Amino acid sequence: MNTPSKKRDVWGSKIGFVLAAAGSAIGLGNIWRFPYVTGENGGAAFVLLYIIFIVLIGVPVMLSELAIGRHAQRNPVGAFRKIAPKSLWPLVGLMGVVTGIGILSYYSVIAGWTFGYFIKALGGSFSNLTSAEQSSQIFTEFVKNPYQCIAYLFVFLTATGFVVLGGISGGIEKWAKILMPLLFVLLLLLTLRSVTLPNAKAGLEFYLAPNFGKINAGTIASALGQALFSLSLGMGAMITYGSYISKKDNLAISAGYVCLFDTLIAVVSGLMIFPALFSMGLDPSGGPGLVFVVLPSIFDKMPGGIFFGAGFFLLLTVAALTSTISLLEVAVTYFVDEFNWQRRRAVLLMSGLAFVLGIPSALSQGANSLLSNLPLVHLGFLDFANILLGNYSLTIGALLIAIFVGYKWGIKNLSAEITIENNHFYGRPFWAIVIRYLCPVAIIVILLYILLTGNYF
Ligand code: TRP
Repeated sequence: MNTPSKKRDVWGSKIGFVLAAAGSAIGLGNIWRFPYVTGENGGAAFVLLYIIFIVLIGVPVMLSELAIGRHAQRNPVGAFRKIAPKSLWPLVGLMGVVTGIGILSYYSVIAGWTFGYFIKALGGSFSNLTSAEQSSQIFTEFVKNPYQCIAYLFVFLTATGFVVLGGISGGIEKWAKILMPLLFVLLLLLTLRSVTLPNAKAGLEFYLAPNFGKINAGTIASALGQALFSLSLGMGAMITYGSYISKKDNLAISAGYVCLFDTLIAVVSGLMIFPALFSMGLDPSGGPGLVFVVLPSIFDKMPGGIFFGAGFFLLLTVAALTSTISLLEVAVTYFVDEFNWQRRRAVLLMSGLAFVLGIPSALSQGANSLLSNLPLVHLGFLDFANILLGNYSLTIGALLIAIFVGYKWGIKNLSAEITIENNHFYGRPFWAIVIRYLCPVAIIVILLYILLTGNYF
């Protein structure tokens, strides 16, 4: 059951892997979620905390996941089983597979909105916007429309399935190499426009000058949640991608690059959003609609606005696509490795499942009063799914992975996997301490805080 019948695919090159993994990490979490969470949490001080968590928790957990995957050459369940047979550890992998499909379902709804906005921008819907309220109204009405949201969800999952069908080197890697550089260029162009708008300085100050009075336990928890989500950690996505890395590559360097690119894109996205936001006199704590409301108004003021507007939402769709690919790939690798399914069958069934599970999220933006305000929790379905999976499950997953590597597999074995083929493990004593002590303790403290206060991330 555990031995795949065919030879396992591998990434064709180191840069191919780094781009694919950066593609997984860079997504709506960076360009859509990071700016609005930063806005809600008071700006620069939050950004600083976020970066600290990326370095102290993100990098070591990333390295741990990649090493587990490459060592075992298996999906998350198989990987834990291979390293720790006859234990409960494979359940951590299973939790990852389930969480991946769950996140895929609602993430694709939001990705569908971005694709819908691409179509709208092409059609000139954002020309001659007279006020921010108008832009905000367009968004609210759009996400309320059940047919459109479900149709875009479907289109998006079909595109995800199409790429995953092509496999690792011929599908995911090939597309990442085309799509990621395109994303970088467009983001830079838009940022240049944003920082040269009138009154951009107020936005830059909010974003870059820290006010430590704004840090509290809630901000700290949000920063950690955002760091894990943004790096695609805590559910075995990186175990899966790691399982296709060649033994020749230096894992520590690859992990470093992926974290660096992801952080750069998030930080630059803030530079793109906040100056524009302040220039238009909008509230930085505007919540999830931020990107959809602010950006159409910037495009309207640019020469060639339709081109940039459509280009931006297309690329946001692309960034989301390289992320959903990784979410789907976890379950697909699981069924291919463990049950010898054909890739095709796994892709069809798993993306179909994500579509069905995504429907309640697609209907939760006001189209259905039950789904937009669930009993007991008083949250919309999408928000609730995000708290449960995107926050709790990933945080618990990251905690268990750090404990697994620190205490079960051991730093020695981790190090042996990293230093295979004469690769160097930079800063080994430092990372050993971080994985064994700092990561678990920091995550447990934050989880306790959320449980005791009932504050979400
Ligand atoms: N990191 C992606 C983003 O920032 C989302 C994502 C893709 C993800 N795969 C994941 C998040 C796995 C958690 C786990 O948009």
